[in-house]
Amino acid sequence: MDVRAALFRRRSIKAFDPDHEIGEAVLREIMALALLAPSSYNLQHWRFVAVTDRGQKQRLKEAAWGQEHVGQASAVIVVCADPRAHLQAERCWSASSPETRARLAARIRNLYDGDERLQRDEAVRSGALVSMALMLAATEAGYDSCPLIGFEPGRVAQVVEMPGDWIAVMLVALGKRTREPAPKPYQIPLEEVVKLQSFKGRGLGA
Ligand SMILES: Cc1cc2nc3c(=O)[nH]c(=O)nc-3n(C[C@H](O)[C@H](O)[C@H](O)COP(=O)(O)O)c2cc1C
Repeated sequence: MDVRAALFRRRSIKAFDPDHEIGEAVLREIMALALLAPSSYNLQHWRFVAVTDRGQKQRLKEAAWGQEHVGQASAVIVVCADPRAHLQAERCWSASSPETRARLAARIRNLYDGDERLQRDEAVRSGALVSMALMLAATEAGYDSCPLIGFEPGRVAQVVEMPGDWIAVMLVALGKRTREPAPKPYQIPLEEVVKLQSFKGRGLGA
């Protein structure tokens, strides 16, 4: 499947076959592709908890405002991000020369140290990008998905035993659709959302 087809096929699916089990091999394939996503300074702020156990999915559903598709999904991926990933910068540049590694690590620490807002923004940005990559990879593997932020962060953290200083960026439910999604309710026209040269510029193609 090419990217274009995957982008058209991907929709936020709200009803999954609760009896469909996803194998670990497929999960590995999807996650390995997702990890190709970009992250600021290659910091890879992300860690994931792939929840396939029925009891755990039920607990996540309860933490996610009771949303049924969370309980029905074959797997719910909890996308976690570390706002202090910059402290691991040297590891993320392991393949570089010692000089480059040390120089970059110093620059990265200098940029992030003391700026909690930037640390959080970056963790969420990286988490969001990897979530999209994950959904496209799942589409290619024949799975449907739904991204969710409708959950109580503290409860989700408790269920998956995520450290309290990490961020639960998103849940991504994966499964096989049992119902076709309704057509998109509305898409703001391209010419209105894409401007040339400046925010006040002409709309692309207008
Ligand atoms: C950040 C984010 C949070 C979302 N949270 C939820 C959610 O809690 N529950 C849900 O069913 N869908 C959720 N969605 C899915 C959106 O409703 C959906 O993407 C949007 O309506 C567009 O539909 P489409 O994804 O099928 O194109 C979320 C999507 C995003 C990007």
